[in-house]
Amino acid sequence: MSTSTPERVLTPADVERLNFSQTVGLVNEPNMCSGGAATIRAVLREVPGLTAGDRILEVGSNTGFSVLEMAAATKCDVHGIDIEDSSVRFSRNKAAALGLGNAHFAVGDGTRIDFPNDHFDMLFASNVTSFIPDRQRAIDEYYRVLKRFGVLAAVPIFYHRRPPARLLAEVERAIGAPLPRFSRADWEEMFGRPGSELFFSEEYEYLDLSPEQIDAYVAAVLAQPCNDSMSRELKEAAGSRLRYFYTLFNENLGYARYAILLYRKNRPTEFPILHASAPVAGSAQHR
Ligand SMILES: C[S@@+](CC[C@H](N)C(=O)[O-])C[C@H]1O[C@@H](n2cnc3c(N)ncnc32)[C@H](O)[C@@H]1O
Repeated sequence: MSTSTPERVLTPADVERLNFSQTVGLVNEPNMCSGGAATIRAVLREVPGLTAGDRILEVGSNTGFSVLEMAAATKCDVHGIDIEDSSVRFSRNKAAALGLGNAHFAVGDGTRIDFPNDHFDMLFASNVTSFIPDRQRAIDEYYRVLKRFGVLAAVPIFYHRRPPARLLAEVERAIGAPLPRFSRADWEEMFGRPGSELFFSEEYEYLDLSPEQIDAYVAAVLAQPCNDSMSRELKEAAGSRLRYFYTLFNENLGYARYAILLYRKNRPTEFPILHASAPVAGSAQHR
């Protein structure tokens, strides 16, 4: 995410008033989907049949992490769209530096996706749909641009326990936006469409972070070469602001989980199964 605040005129006192996205924009924190590369690997493992030249779209690609991971792991043409121009520029530079010619980035809005109908084999939407006020319209767009039998890979964050009102209010102040209070069932209802099939789902909890782990992460963010030109005072102020946000989010994520939800746009056969089955635990053998 980016900040429009010009860095050179910022004072440490200004930094104390920045919200989360302005702060991470200032220090160029690389954004990642929940679970990082392990999430991308799980999605690619569970969506078999993606082959060279297939098309993948990520909506809300931010600084490009997931697109670059998918472009590196597959021979697919991987596209990322994000509403933030600065994130798109950052991602393009990163793709060029990595020599990933199959990663493409453009400014775009998830509620008006600038691609034709039935175009993509997979659409990846991580923590983006909760930021889009007209979610139904965005999800309609996700399905519109997917090919027949294409896969919507959604990775939403949700509350599995009710957080205290005080915490919610503080997180909303930190991110400068209302925080959706969705459950996993709410997301499943939103992402489903008549004829679509939720064929894989897996739920994850966030591991609690110690203050030392938060400090080590803040140090890594500030030590990036792109932050070398910041004064020591500004770095200290940004570090203390980041520490505050990450500690707050760590508490909030104690009430949350995320899920990998894979939907096929259509199924070849819609008829219900009569004799349903379940795997016998421990019986699988790979020979
Ligand atoms: C919290 S970030 C996280 C996205 C990230 N790709 C992930 O893996 O979780 C949300 C991103 O969605 C983008 N975004 C918000 N509204 C959008 C919209 N209508 N269309 C496309 N991107 C949008 C923001 O600019 C931001 O980069």
